[in-house]
Amino acid sequence: MDHRPGTFIARCRVCLCVAKVGIIGMGPTGLVTGVALAVHQHQVFGFDADTKRNRDTALGEPPFYEPGLREALRRVLRAGRFTIAQDIASLVRDSDILLLCVGTPSRPDGSMDDDALVAAAESISKVLPNQRLRTVVVKSTVLPGTTETVVRPILNESGRVFRLAMNPEFLQEGRALKDALTPDRIVVGVDRPATARILKALYRSARAPFLVTSIRAAEAIKYATNAFLATKVAFANELANVCETLGVSYDEVHRGLSLDPRINPRFLVPGVGFGGSCFAKDVRALVAAGKRHGAELHLLPAVLDQNETQYLRTVDLLEGEVGDLAGKRIALLGLAFKGGTDDVRESRAIPIATALIKRGATVIGFDPRAGPKFQNEVPEMRLAESVQEALSGSHGAIFQADWPEFRRLTAQQFRRWMTDPVVVDGRRILDPRKMKGVRFRRIG
Ligand code: UDX
Repeated sequence: MDHRPGTFIARCRVCLCVAKVGIIGMGPTGLVTGVALAVHQHQVFGFDADTKRNRDTALGEPPFYEPGLREALRRVLRAGRFTIAQDIASLVRDSDILLLCVGTPSRPDGSMDDDALVAAAESISKVLPNQRLRTVVVKSTVLPGTTETVVRPILNESGRVFRLAMNPEFLQEGRALKDALTPDRIVVGVDRPATARILKALYRSARAPFLVTSIRAAEAIKYATNAFLATKVAFANELANVCETLGVSYDEVHRGLSLDPRINPRFLVPGVGFGGSCFAKDVRALVAAGKRHGAELHLLPAVLDQNETQYLRTVDLLEGEVGDLAGKRIALLGLAFKGGTDDVRESRAIPIATALIKRGATVIGFDPRAGPKFQNEVPEMRLAESVQEALSGSHGAIFQADWPEFRRLTAQQFRRWMTDPVVVDGRRILDPRKMKGVRFRRIG
């Protein structure tokens, strides 16, 4: 089996042994990856800089909502295949493969903040033992060059020999455990062929196409993926906006586009714009890096601009139907950045709620999972405990996140509960043909 960088490996049965894996960072990437590896029979040790997070995780309470994660975490804890380490030193001592899964958020200027990554690399470097070669894998999203120019020199300070790799994650919140257990593809950027063999064995149960690249290419593939997907969403929004003004049905245009074998129809659902912890952050980091290195980007800043104001379309559509929003009661349904998660980072519900309040409306929000987290973002918003409570007596409603339970709502319920049945569907989750007696609007 050929494991040289750049080689595409379809199947490989190099090694069937159980790996001892230490994971630093118990956020969405680290915890989900750790649980998936433990489900696949590996021995996993986790550690986070946040003591409460360690304590909760060790008790089987993930610090965030992800379908199926709590149950799977409890199973692997009971089986003894997943443990929270006492400290970094014991994690490094007990593991052969070390995954760095810490966050790389945006700095105020959009550039990538690698402080947590530097701290994690330093903490490993101080305790790297002499015996047994460790494989250090950067799984955090980092700009091309970071693994080799930031992480490697810190590890070199230990004076120990180590293997180095970069292995980007492609986990979608709301289906992250499924993505981790059965990924579409696994990309590993490696320093030498032996490192690829070790990671191939680690992911053997995933049975996914396995691509070996240079470390820099693996780093870039993550940014390329998110930048492309964000561009697709921004394109769909722009297209839907123009369809709306030209009196063309976006759905029909989308159907026509989808028949072109060169265009994958997924990620072309228009609405309120993209949110979440990755798209905007990664695109901003790429734009900032381009600027710093003298390669000014043109398309990606436009993608960010498009997304920045897209949410306003739903507010304007609502106002168009309701009239002056001052003194009106408006239901905002779905507060997480999308359905299936309690994550409110970059949620478009934040600017929507803020704009509605600014225009004088009283906003009643509801989300199956993200309500309490969201209230910290927009404390002036009132929180309802059910869809019915949010809709009751309201003069209009905006759907912001695509929770499956919202799809089951009927025109009859809107008519019965709302003072004025005006519904703006910002996620294309309701069927307009079934909205009899409802003033129903959506973009495009
Ligand atoms: C993303 C990437 O998909 C994943 O591979 C990466 O590792 C982490 O970032 P995630 O942030 O969980 O995952 O969300 P995703 O499902 O990709 O959606 C991002 C945003 O785009 C959401 O706000 C979503 O609602 C929006 N979106 C997506 C649309 O508005 N239209 C679409 O057609 C698809």
